[in-house]
Amino acid sequence: MKAMKAGLIGCGNISDTYFQMTPRFEALDIVSCTDIAPDAASAKTSEYGVTSQTVDEFFGNPELELIINLTVPNAHAEVTERALRAGKHVYSEKPLAASLNDARSIAAVAVETGRRVGCAPDTIFGGGHQRARQLIDSDVIGRPVGATALFLSRGMESWHPNPDFFFKRGGGPVLDVGPYYIAALINLMGPVKRLTASGAITHPERTITSQPRHGEKIQVEIPTHVSASLEFHSGAVAALMASWDVQRHGHNPIEIYGTRASMIVPDPNFFGGDCLVGRPDGDWETVPPGDLPFAEPNWPTKSGNQVANHRIIGAIDMAYGIRNERPHRASMEFALHTLEIMEAIGKSAETGRHVEIESTCERPAAVPAGRGESVFA
Ligand SMILES: NC(=O)c1ccc[n+]([C@@H]2O[C@H](COP(=O)([O-])OP(=O)(O)OC[C@H]3O[C@@H](n4cnc5c(N)ncnc54)[C@H](O)[C@@H]3O)[C@@H](O)[C@H]2O)c1
Repeated sequence: MKAMKAGLIGCGNISDTYFQMTPRFEALDIVSCTDIAPDAASAKTSEYGVTSQTVDEFFGNPELELIINLTVPNAHAEVTERALRAGKHVYSEKPLAASLNDARSIAAVAVETGRRVGCAPDTIFGGGHQRARQLIDSDVIGRPVGATALFLSRGMESWHPNPDFFFKRGGGPVLDVGPYYIAALINLMGPVKRLTASGAITHPERTITSQPRHGEKIQVEIPTHVSASLEFHSGAVAALMASWDVQRHGHNPIEIYGTRASMIVPDPNFFGGDCLVGRPDGDWETVPPGDLPFAEPNWPTKSGNQVANHRIIGAIDMAYGIRNERPHRASMEFALHTLEIMEAIGKSAETGRHVEIESTCERPAAVPAGRGESVFA
């Protein structure tokens, strides 16, 4: 496929991954970047061979067909809508917006302009989670009756250079890491019908321990420890816990309990990993991604290991979807449903009541076996 010309807005922490991953695929070519902090954008020009533009020049650039929105969550709606109105398709980092109202506004503008919106996470399209999906779809574990999804850590102020937004409205462990886990559950078990939750602001003030702002304080606006119960349309019920207040734990990220067998699913922050299937008798059976794509380790970690990091395949699939006039997998409806669930978790924790979920979505099409982007063609 002839490369779709793309522009990247928001040249912060995660942008390097996008700049480095895109040239590995033919479908997209990032030719321009911008940021409200002009230095952040100009720093990328020599490193990645892209043009940096002012924000106004960027939105007016007729060459750009798709915009990759990597701004902070509070800016997602404004940036995505501006791009749509400029006639561009948009692939946004998660969450789709900082509020459901903003997400609905994006959806209305997408309909009005006839442009597409896609949204991360795309880790669920990696071979690890696609194998889990296949094990469910082929009835290996039977009908899922329940699940646990647990993302528990000490928080972001120890490593992120600019961690304030994580602790403000639009941030928090549910909105930040929840998209990966909730998207993984929807991909495996379908849409959510209603939920209930409780939450706590464990530390009203947090101290940054990363550089360069070591010692600065952050006033916390959102619960940093949350526990929820999700009821799916299928009848399955999942326990979900999201916390930045846990020093250590011994749980798997996601477990699915089927009528025939249980399954431990790979960490949804990553694209690879093995599934473990546990039947009533015998040992856990390891089921690797096998012939499913985007699971191979390709990205060095600080510890010297390699992990599977194919962060961009959601946008690559979207580019093929636009060209081939088929739905893209990381869809706006899917992201809006995920966001409604996350917002409902906050609402339920505040009110102490069950919250019904109005939106719904299809499970994205499974990714076929094969290698590389040809599976999207
Ligand atoms: N850092 C990660 O590991 C990571 C991983 C996955 C997803 N994400 C998501 O990616 C997004 C960005 O995260 P990050 O960690 O790179 O944040 P960051 O703060 O490092 O970078 C965000 C950049 O966006 C720019 N920006 C903010 N508002 C803007 C606007 N209105 N117009 C133009 N530029 C604007 C900022 O100046 C900054 O350079 C978030 O939605 C986050 O949830 C981050």
